[in-house]
Amino acid sequence: METSDKSGIANADLTARHAHVIGWGKAVPETAMSNDDLSAFVDTSDDWIYARTGIKQRFIANEGESTATLAYLAAQQALEVADILPTDLDLIVVATSTAENIFPSTASLVQDWLNAHEAGAFDLSAACSGFVYAMNMAADSIRAGSIDSALVIGAETMSRILDWQDRSTCILFGDGAGAVVLQANETPGGVLSGVLRSDGAGGDLLAIPSVGSIDANQSRAGANGYKLYKMYMAGGEVFKFATRVVSESVEQACKLAGIKVEDINLVIPHQANLRILQAAARKLGIDSDKFMSNVERYGNTSAASIPIALCEAIEERRIQNKDHIALVGFGGGLTWASMVIRWGIPKPSEQQGSLLNRQRRHVQYRIAKWRSRSRRWRRRVNSRVRDLQS
Ligand code: COA
Repeated sequence: METSDKSGIANADLTARHAHVIGWGKAVPETAMSNDDLSAFVDTSDDWIYARTGIKQRFIANEGESTATLAYLAAQQALEVADILPTDLDLIVVATSTAENIFPSTASLVQDWLNAHEAGAFDLSAACSGFVYAMNMAADSIRAGSIDSALVIGAETMSRILDWQDRSTCILFGDGAGAVVLQANETPGGVLSGVLRSDGAGGDLLAIPSVGSIDANQSRAGANGYKLYKMYMAGGEVFKFATRVVSESVEQACKLAGIKVEDINLVIPHQANLRILQAAARKLGIDSDKFMSNVERYGNTSAASIPIALCEAIEERRIQNKDHIALVGFGGGLTWASMVIRWGIPKPSEQQGSLLNRQRRHVQYRIAKWRSRSRRWRRRVNSRVRDLQS
């Protein structure tokens, strides 16, 4: 059914089922933090940050906001555009490096809050490449026929794992979430190719040591100077890695999809740094206008950056029916990943949901809250009764 070789994962043109993006949504925290706000407590300046990164501001989660709440809001929007019910979903994947818990997964929380009780749910860890990894995995499952629809989310609260004493990293990142709904359809197109790569030898260039770390039982920081649960980054090395892999992997994904790089209408890259994107566009020989960039307003939101940028590209009407879109992510692992999508169903400008479905979704969200609470209460009551009986 599918071809695969050492240069990539799959060639969708040979399959009868195709995985199309039919819904999209994004959410960011209420509070924006400008470079000037940041320089009030970090030894930096708007001039330095903007010149080196293209970033002007980022959003920072407040106490009531988290990776899961942002993911949930983005997911609701994506379901609204797709005009399907949460109960139609077979799978929910959340790509994140800032999961709400080790477990339960952020995806399971979103599944519960949506009342998507027919869906499996898990988190995927591939740092800033995570969204493309998750899309590829969901698209493959759809094409293989094991599922019909998937909700793929990239969601992060990077502000909670930043070392705010480290001015070379804390200025770069922000919080947010983006989501898409993928659905099986016989119309050729949708996700055409996916190229996933990793180089663990570069793992020490960008890392957040956690509970399973070799240093986790020691009170001091790791031998290499890392702090547990805090991000460490060798910025210069990561910069060189990123500019190299973006062009390489977009070329590979195009080849696998059977198109030329010049056939790409829009590249939606991971929004790490404007200079990285400009260098990658030059290497690919693509006009920088064809590289979507919104890093100025969001900073680097890791796994959330590609779906947020995708939503903005659609809002700005930069994607038309039958366009070829390349997604490309890169980051910790080291990992990188590219994907080519032929946009097909529906035409972004023509999407309109039905009022009845909207009401049914809202009823399901209310049922979800009631169902979760009542199950917890029942468990507590049962356990109290057992205590009294013993
Ligand atoms: N404000 C002001 N000065 C800063 C600063 C800040 N926020 N951060 C570092 N500096 C200083 C350094 O201390 C250094 O000073 P010195 O020359 O007196 O020692 C100087 O600026 C240059 O530092 P350097 O680290 O060489 O800067 P750079 O040009 O490499 O830019 C990054 C740093 C982080 C912006 C750049 O390396 C980068 O963007 N890397 C890629 C990071 C990335 O995108 N990661 C995510 C991938 S998913």
